[in-house]
Amino acid sequence: MKSSLLALSLSFLFFALLTKPLSGHPNPLLDLDGDKVEAWSAYYTTSIIIEAGGGGLTLSPNRNGSCPLDVTQHSSYLLRGYPMFFFPTNYSSENRGYVHESMDVNIQFSTNIPICNEPMVWKVDNCDEKRGAWFITTNGVVGNPGPQTLPNWFKFVKIGVGINAYKIVHCPSDVSESTGHLCNDVGINYVENAWRLALTSTQPFRLGSVKDEVLSS
Ligand SMILES: *[C@@H]1O[C@H](CO)[C@@H](O)[C@H](O)[C@H]1NC(C)=O
Ligand SMILES: *[C@@H]1O[C@H](CO)[C@@H](O)[C@H](O)[C@H]1NC(C)=O
Repeated sequence: MKSSLLALSLSFLFFALLTKPLSGHPNPLLDLDGDKVEAWSAYYTTSIIIEAGGGGLTLSPNRNGSCPLDVTQHSSYLLRGYPMFFFPTNYSSENRGYVHESMDVNIQFSTNIPICNEPMVWKVDNCDEKRGAWFITTNGVVGNPGPQTLPNWFKFVKIGVGINAYKIVHCPSDVSESTGHLCNDVGINYVENAWRLALTSTQPFRLGSVKDEVLSS
């Protein structure tokens, strides 16, 4: 009786260790082929809900119909959108590394849309008072972790088991000592001429990544 209880509690402990990565050894982010996501390669991100979940991430004129562009999702699952890079805080061209779960990254579309002469780097916009939401827009910067760049940092957090599905969260912890910064999921709960990404506490966008073989070769 005692030994079976011990075995039970040991198996719980084992389970806890399995599911919680030891600090300092974060899990690598994996693409839908099961390969590690590389900071020097470009990826398409797409809904893991086939068809009804929509397509890949793209860019659309912001809510005023102008620049900087907002990050949006294609409603058609047939469109994969633009590929993008994920740059960890310690990324440099000499020291590129892999992307890990729950680590702050900058996200940059690998495209130059001729109509907006601005970096295609994701950024949480100031609160849109009229619509009562914090939208994901562009015109952010890569690097310079610190209090002044908080809106530019995002993380991938694994959801579910079996499939390499993640949600994106805005919860910049690695880049700043400041406490009291709110953590939110990134979701698509606002439709106005496009499916717009914004911070949400209820409906995260569930996505997977697919390597862009052209840009990564
Ligand atoms: C839209 O225009 C209004 C008025 O000029 C401005 O206050 C607001 O910040 C703009 N929003 C965006 C997303 O550009
Ligand atoms: C960046 O930092 C993480 C965590 O300390 C480490 O695992 C990774 O190897 C580093 N990457 C580079 C390119 O130095």
